[in-house]
Amino acid sequence: MKQYGIYRLEDVTIKNFEKSPDEKFILSKWLFAEWYDFLNSVVEPKVIPHRKLTAGMCTGSVLEIGAGTGANLEYLTRANKITLSEPDKYMQRKLEPLASTYSKPVELIGNTGESLPFRDNSFDSVLTTLVLCMVQDVDKVTKEAFRVLKPGGRYYFYEHVVAEKFTGRLLQKILDPVWKWGTTGCHLQRDLIKSIKNLPYSKLCLSKFQFSLGIPIVIPNIIGYVEK
Ligand SMILES: C[S@@+](CC[C@H](N)C(=O)[O-])C[C@H]1O[C@@H](n2cnc3c(N)ncnc32)[C@H](O)[C@@H]1O
Repeated sequence: MKQYGIYRLEDVTIKNFEKSPDEKFILSKWLFAEWYDFLNSVVEPKVIPHRKLTAGMCTGSVLEIGAGTGANLEYLTRANKITLSEPDKYMQRKLEPLASTYSKPVELIGNTGESLPFRDNSFDSVLTTLVLCMVQDVDKVTKEAFRVLKPGGRYYFYEHVVAEKFTGRLLQKILDPVWKWGTTGCHLQRDLIKSIKNLPYSKLCLSKFQFSLGIPIVIPNIIGYVEK
């Protein structure tokens, strides 16, 4: 484990965030990370209530998978120990300074959600927001999220999903290639409900709703939790 001494809080520990020497510069990824907060600021006021219902409900030891630039950090008010996983090095550069100014101990890890370096039953809460659309393997990530949860713990999610109606699905299909390119890998057409329902949960709470952009385009979203 590498400890960085340049941050204000000694409580921030960083694992697997080191850049390997042969890593290439990827312009699209760099742009996405640089612009993420700015682009998000357009929709963020509408996203905040959903962050509060997910990040804001996480208690105890919390693992966030795909933390991005750290937009959920300020809502993790009920957590007492926070671990953030973020595999994208450009996002990591945004996340590190923010985590270092946070008022609670934060651990940053560079692992993907598909292979988490934790034992079974490690966390009270696990969180993904707007992440399952981007991962390589949704089922692996949801299974990993569930595996590392303690019995009685909750995996909170807030994600966008495939449309139910034919017209919505058609629109998503048309937009998907451009969207994927512009967002460096976000898929509009994922059936995440299926993956979540496949988990061996003891309790499921799931709401579907249409996220309105204020123009005549709505994005189907899901929010909820599974309890182990
Ligand atoms: C759209 S951003 C969302 C960031 C943040 N969760 C939020 O709500 O603002 C998706 C994030 O998932 C990360 N990601 C992509 N693939 C991943 C994977 N396999 N495991 C974990 N995170 C991943 C991306 O690097 C990116 O930071």
